[in-house]
Amino acid sequence: MGKAGENETVFLQESESGMNVRTHKCGELSKKHVGQTVVLNGWVQRRRDHGMVIFIDLRDRTGITQVVFNAERNLRCHQAAHTLRSECVVSVTGQVMARPDESKNPDLSTGEIEIFVDDVEILNEAKTPPFLIEDDADVTESIRLKYRFLDLRRPRMQKLLSLRHGITQATREFVNAEGFLEVETPILTKSTPEGARDYLVPSRVNAGQFFALPQSPQLFKQVLMVSGVDRYYQIARCFRDEDLRNDRQPEFTQIDLEMSFVDRHQVMSLMERMIVTIFSKVGGVQLPTPFPRMTYAEAMGRYGSDKPDLRFDMPLYDMTAFGAASEFKVFKDAATKGGIVKALIVKGGATLSRTRIDALGDTAKSFGAKGLAWLKLTAEGQLESVIAKFLDPKAFAAALSDAKPGDLVLFGADKTAVVHDVMGRIRLLLGEELKLIDTSAWKPLWVVDFPMLDYDADQKRYVAIHHPFTAPLDEDLGLFDSDPLKVRAKAYDMVLNGSEIGGGSIRIHRRDVQSKVFDLLGIGKEDAAVKFGFLLEALEYGAPPHGGIAFGLDRLVMLLGNADSIRDVIAFPKTQKAQCPLTDAPSTVGADQLKELRIKLDLVE
Ligand code: AMO
Ligand code: AMP
Repeated sequence: MGKAGENETVFLQESESGMNVRTHKCGELSKKHVGQTVVLNGWVQRRRDHGMVIFIDLRDRTGITQVVFNAERNLRCHQAAHTLRSECVVSVTGQVMARPDESKNPDLSTGEIEIFVDDVEILNEAKTPPFLIEDDADVTESIRLKYRFLDLRRPRMQKLLSLRHGITQATREFVNAEGFLEVETPILTKSTPEGARDYLVPSRVNAGQFFALPQSPQLFKQVLMVSGVDRYYQIARCFRDEDLRNDRQPEFTQIDLEMSFVDRHQVMSLMERMIVTIFSKVGGVQLPTPFPRMTYAEAMGRYGSDKPDLRFDMPLYDMTAFGAASEFKVFKDAATKGGIVKALIVKGGATLSRTRIDALGDTAKSFGAKGLAWLKLTAEGQLESVIAKFLDPKAFAAALSDAKPGDLVLFGADKTAVVHDVMGRIRLLLGEELKLIDTSAWKPLWVVDFPMLDYDADQKRYVAIHHPFTAPLDEDLGLFDSDPLKVRAKAYDMVLNGSEIGGGSIRIHRRDVQSKVFDLLGIGKEDAAVKFGFLLEALEYGAPPHGGIAFGLDRLVMLLGNADSIRDVIAFPKTQKAQCPLTDAPSTVGADQLKELRIKLDLVE
């Protein structure tokens, strides 16, 4: 059936069940449809009974239309309207009328019209929902997730679903035009090298053996490069059994890509173009280009984070030399024992109360600091602080000339990693609390030259920061034997407004380099063969140089949709405890099923 256009006469059609077939959606009608007879289907949002006239707001995915049951116009329909309850499903047939000026609703896209009903059919009744289907309904998240089918009816959730759809469609459009092939990779597979805990699936056919769900398609996409696919992509589901946060789910989606015969700059510039295109097409957001590139060392040093939020500045200042020369034992000790002293300047912060500053100190301790020393610069330029007696004002002024009268200065002194982590988090907290963040700004950047390795003191061995197939910078190859922690990787992260939205690297495609990395990581030949044997073998049959990246789709939707929680951008998410209240998964299974899998439980309470 063709949809009725402007001023066309609509010939109503009957469906198989004898009902009028829907002609329009509830968010579509406007003044130009006045006079037309239309059929709308949807849910009753609200009913208002004014005696001779009953109004209902009829809702579907596209919006709301006001529907009028007038006893004088149609008594049968008016009587039927008495039985309509919230969320019951109806079909109405009626005429589009212009609303009188005084009853126009500028907040509704359809606010200039209403439908006068001539026929109504109740398609289904509904129980009273446990919460109102409105954006600001007062309801806990656990109830929302249990009744997700109702929660998703809310306009905001519908918007987020459609935004997510828009992003995947724009992605596909972009990469298809760039010659990428969409290839699916297995879900029942082996452990992959991202380093989180695996979700395991027991095999019935091969008793005692387990599949692992992929933490990412990493190994397969590299194999596809050896297979000559050249450019691969997949909107891929990934599974990681890790502690959950507001931007982490155990099951999430990556926009996963891999390319052959490329270097870092080619991957980064194409991917930058892709993200810019998606944001502009789907969100109407023009990201500033080119994205700045910052080394990991700069990002950590200046912002205490490898995903700096550049929507406000407030950098960390290195005060190690000042600390070493001071009489304050905490600073001196940190500086002389290989640690660092760093400062944050809170502009105009001298007005902050002692209670507030002490609370910041407690927060710093909860982040792992031993304390958060502070000083205020008085209007006369004097240092005001319990530690002032240990500090030389002249030396301070010379070391931190950006601090001005009226400012508050906060200090962290400890091992480098602790200071950066704590001061980076205090910086973010202050940015939010003091409203320093320009929430209308978009600040993307690339973080590059990550170290390749970290030393895990618990396991007493080196671990790969990205994954063990990440290539080292050519100029750092010589450091492998002398100073492995100094070796930098051909890795890159895309960061937007303080969120890591994507990460990738150029891969190792030479066997000798790969062996060296495995040696350093303490991965023996046998171990490597068991874990990644198929990839290592593939690499020996003419692997092209290759590299890629994966973006967190959920995080992209969160940013463009301005959502605070990753759970709001996933149709059926898990709670913080990795459970699904809708389905009640995970759940116990019957003895028969366990027997079939030859699994015996030994649960310790
Ligand atoms: P990585 O582990 O950095 O790289 O993941 C890539 C991106 O996926 C998103 N992400 C997550 N989103 C939601 N919940 C999670 N638990 C979660 N974990 C990661 C982040 C991150 O930037 N195979 C490599 C990519 C590559 O080298 O090509 C990988 O998975 O936005
Ligand atoms: P104390 O000498 O323990 O009384 O501490 C004096 C001030 O230094 C207090 O404000 C502490 O919060 C702060 N402080 C203590 N240890 C550290 C540290 N490692 N880094 C920064 N400030 C600290």
